[in-house]
Amino acid sequence: TKKLQVAIDGPASAGKSTVAKLIAKQFGYVYCDTGAMYRSITLKVIQEGIKLDDEPKIVSILDNTTIGFEPGQPQQLVFLDHQDVTNQIRSEQVTNSVSTVAALPGVRKNLVDQQRKIASHGGVIMDGRDIGTTVLPNANLKIFLVASVSERAERRFKDNAEKGIHTPLKELAAEIETRDYKDSHRKVSPLIKASDAIEINTTQMSIQDVVTEISKLMKNKL
Ligand code: C5P
Repeated sequence: TKKLQVAIDGPASAGKSTVAKLIAKQFGYVYCDTGAMYRSITLKVIQEGIKLDDEPKIVSILDNTTIGFEPGQPQQLVFLDHQDVTNQIRSEQVTNSVSTVAALPGVRKNLVDQQRKIASHGGVIMDGRDIGTTVLPNANLKIFLVASVSERAERRFKDNAEKGIHTPLKELAAEIETRDYKDSHRKVSPLIKASDAIEINTTQMSIQDVVTEISKLMKNKL
């Protein structure tokens, strides 16, 4: 059977990774979380005390950096230089620093090359900001997931509560808006809907509704 390349893009906390994971499982596809890759590099930059916008220095460490994924429950595990960083890359510090590092062209070039390799055999659900526009412009299906800022802040608030993090809702909404602004206004491959992407507004939809809709769209391409 045909093995599709599916691109899922959209702003922060729109539910991309949650639905991407479920769809990958349903179809037996690989799930590639490109945000986790930018987060891992950002964590290393912070750990090594490098300035977030020191492009030459950051690019120089990329050749000696490995990022890997391994299946895990309830979530896929992320490894940075063979260390499990699954939880660390979700910290507030990394979350609020990642857009600066992700705006550096040298960083994007390195990660985009890796992402294309991962997707080269198809059978992949890849989520991020520039998958449909830059990483996989020929993807079989492109989805652009959106939701209102208040809904996204509430979803993050709930996720955080489960992890024992209690950042106020207002602060979360402000962080989401700041990150969206930075991601949409950078020079290299900003967050933008590909002209051939299908937009799904998930504000009033359940996770299962979104998964069902995307599965249907995929089955039409098989
Ligand atoms: O998807 P997630 O929220 O984990 O992504 C974290 C950050 O990584 C984004 O805010 C963005 O700055 C960057 N990113 C990106 N391009 C991608 C995926 C993520 O620039 N394809």
